[in-house]
Amino acid sequence: MSEPETAKAGTRADEGASLGARIMRRLDELAQYSSEPGALTRLYLSPEHKAATVQVAAWMRDAGMTTELDAAASVVGRYEGAESGMPALLLGSHIDTVRNAGRYDGNFGVVAAIEAVAAFHSRGERLPFAIEVIAFGDEEGVRFPVTLTGARAVAGILDLAALDAEDADGVSVREALRRFGCDPFALPHIARRRKDVFGYVEMHIEQGPVLEAENLPVGVVSAINGASRFAAEVEGVAGHAGTVPMRLRHDAVAAMSEMVLAVERTALETPDLVATVGWVEASPGAVNVIPAHARFTIDLRSPDDRVRKAAAERLARDLQAVAARRGVGLALRAGYDAPALTCAPALADALERSVARLGIRPLRLSSGAGHDGLAIGALCPVGMLFVRCEGGISHNPREAVTEADADVATRILLDFLRTFDPHRAPSAAAVTP
Ligand code: GLV
Ligand code: MN
Ligand code: MN
Repeated sequence: MSEPETAKAGTRADEGASLGARIMRRLDELAQYSSEPGALTRLYLSPEHKAATVQVAAWMRDAGMTTELDAAASVVGRYEGAESGMPALLLGSHIDTVRNAGRYDGNFGVVAAIEAVAAFHSRGERLPFAIEVIAFGDEEGVRFPVTLTGARAVAGILDLAALDAEDADGVSVREALRRFGCDPFALPHIARRRKDVFGYVEMHIEQGPVLEAENLPVGVVSAINGASRFAAEVEGVAGHAGTVPMRLRHDAVAAMSEMVLAVERTALETPDLVATVGWVEASPGAVNVIPAHARFTIDLRSPDDRVRKAAAERLARDLQAVAARRGVGLALRAGYDAPALTCAPALADALERSVARLGIRPLRLSSGAGHDGLAIGALCPVGMLFVRCEGGISHNPREAVTEADADVATRILLDFLRTFDPHRAPSAAAVTP
């Protein structure tokens, strides 16, 4: 199939063809803020995250926005509407990354939204609403066993108990926020009031193969899968690798291995469920010692919350049965839990009209990945536009987006913003926190 024709509607002539090029350049620049030379790792509240917030705020100011770092370490840039103080349409995504990440996950949505505002600013164009671009900092949930801290705080659904969660070095979210220069006591005050926002619209790479298979640069998101995460700890008995007979062992790693396969089997046997053990650790960690302890994480996702909850309960029972049979202890701690979110039909329809105006066949697809919108959906209607990524590869340094796709996606966002009628904005989606 050939590449679809893309018209220039939604973009003024002087916006030219350089939007995509600027976005790609800035994404390359942002990728330098990393804790690992030659790779991109930027965890929530790390020094690299701090440096990235400074860069992003500078770009926002260049684009005519006022900026602040909020109490959850999100950078918020505000571009006033025709009159100052108008309610805002929120745009954004996240600038934290997984370990050894690609440079587009999250960062693309932030940089592209800033470019869209820059296009308005360069023409002195004001809309009948304010725009706020938010660069959230905790979408990946890699450093702490909690996630969406920034988005939850903005949505007013942050459980302050999350601040006690600790990273692998025993640093709590509360302490890390303080070190970052944020005031954890101010967190309740950054919750937005429903009447101050019209909605939240995020552009994000698809992180899957559908758009590529459909030969489409973009797609409109219909829903975001819900997710549950657990931390598991297996307690066995250390012993001499040469002297303890096999049948008398309480090997924590052997037990964990059986549990990992039970996680995989649960997902294989359950329609609409995916499950991942993404991190494991064993100790004491010597070639001649039977492992006494093992720890691992579990991530469950489904578009159907009932499927996810039932699978989590079934899995907990199965893992305890493995532990009992092998004579080891098992502690399972629930962490992040986010219900699935249906995107607001009115925003999806409006995004789809913009897609069509740019000469592209509209396609709706659901998101298997989590996004800041999962939390923001508790505050206001959420709309998302996905951008094709090469091979559907993400959470991987090979993640790739083309300049042409970045360009067309941002033109669609511009068209959407220019035609968005705040007085016909949808009411808040019925979402449970
Ligand atoms: C974030 O990328 C997630 O879905 O885990
Ligand atoms: Mn993301
Ligand atoms: Mn991600």
